[in-house]
Amino acid sequence: MAVLVTGGAGYIGSHTVAELLDAKEEVIVLDNLEKGHREAVLGGKFIQADLRNIDEIRKVLKENDIEAVIHFAAYIEVGESVINPLKYYNNNVIASLNLLTAMQEAGVNKIVFSSTAATYGIPEQIPIKESDRTAPINPYGETKLTVEKMLKWADDAYGIKYAVLRYFNACGAHISGKIGEAHSPESHLIPIILQVAQGKRDEIKIFGSDYNTKDGTCVRDYIHVSDLSQAHVLALKNLRKGAESNTFNLGNGTGFSNKEVVEVARAVTGKTIKATDAPRRPGDPDILIASAEKAINILGWKPKYNDLNKIVETAWKWHSTHPNGYNG
Ligand code: UFG
Repeated sequence: MAVLVTGGAGYIGSHTVAELLDAKEEVIVLDNLEKGHREAVLGGKFIQADLRNIDEIRKVLKENDIEAVIHFAAYIEVGESVINPLKYYNNNVIASLNLLTAMQEAGVNKIVFSSTAATYGIPEQIPIKESDRTAPINPYGETKLTVEKMLKWADDAYGIKYAVLRYFNACGAHISGKIGEAHSPESHLIPIILQVAQGKRDEIKIFGSDYNTKDGTCVRDYIHVSDLSQAHVLALKNLRKGAESNTFNLGNGTGFSNKEVVEVARAVTGKTIKATDAPRRPGDPDILIASAEKAINILGWKPKYNDLNKIVETAWKWHSTHPNGYNG
C-alpha cells in the first residue's frame, strides 16, 4: 500500500518524499504544480491533480491502494493571506475538506497534516507548548487551524486518525544538494539573505528593529527541512502502531534574531551581505520558539541539525549550485 503525499513537489513535501523513499515506503505524489516543481520529486509515482476538484481526488484514491495521506498542499504566504484571505480559505480549507471527504468515502483513515506555528498568533509563553492558546493573527494561520479542528471532528465521527505537525521556521536544504527551497516570489528570511550573498539582491531589509527582543529584531526558531521530514515518517509509523490523534510542535527550541541570522549567513558565505533596518512587517510576533518535547518523547524525534551554521551551509550549497532554483 502507498502513502499519498499532497504537495509533494513543494519545499517540505519534496524533502519528505525523499525521506519516505529512503525508508523504502511506496510513495504517490499528488501536486498541481502551481507552486511545486516536478524536478523536486526524486521518486515514486507522480500525479498532477488539484485538491480543489474532489473528483480528481476520488479518482486517485479509487485507482491506487492508499494506506495513509501526508497533506502538505497549501498556500503558505502570511502577507498574501492578509490581502486575499478567501484565496487561502479556498486552497487551504476547501481543498482539505475535499481530501478528507474523499478519504472518508474511500476508507483511508490516517493523515499527517502540515500545520504551523502561525496557529498560535501572539504566544502566551515561550517556549510554546501545543496546549497553549491558539489565536492566529493572519488568515494563513487561521486556515491551518480550521483544518486542525476539522480533523478533530472527522476523527470523532469517522475514526480518521491524524498527526498535526506545527512547524516553526523551516529552512535549509537536502544534504545531497539535489533539492532545496525555491519559492516564487521568495519571502523567507534565509533564502533572501542568501540571494544578497549571491549578488541577486542589493540588500536584506530587516523588518522592524524595535521589537521586545535581545537586539530589537524578531526571534525565530529555525528547523532544518530534513528534520521536519524525519518527523513526518515517525508520525506515520506512530499512526500505524494505532496511536491516538495528536498535535506536535516541530522546532529546535532555540531562538535566533533576524540580525543573528544575517551574521550566521555572513560567516557561512564569507560575503559582506548588506542589511538595512526597515519598518515592521504586519503580522510578525516578537518571538516564536517551540517546545518540541512532545515530538521528542512520543514520536522519538531526533533533530540532527541543531546548529544554525550547519543549516545555513546546506541552504547555501543548494542556492549556490542552483542560482535559479529548479530552472538551472
Ligand atoms: N524578514 C525580514 N526581511 C525579509 C524577510 C523576512 O526581516 O526580507 C523577517 C520577518 O519579518 C520575520 C523573520 O524574518 O521577523 C522570519 O520571516 P520569514 O518570512 O522567513 O518567516 P515567518 O516567521 O514569517 O514565517 C514562517 C513561515 C510561515 C509560518 C511561520 C510560523 O514562513 O509559513 O513561520 O512560525 F506561518
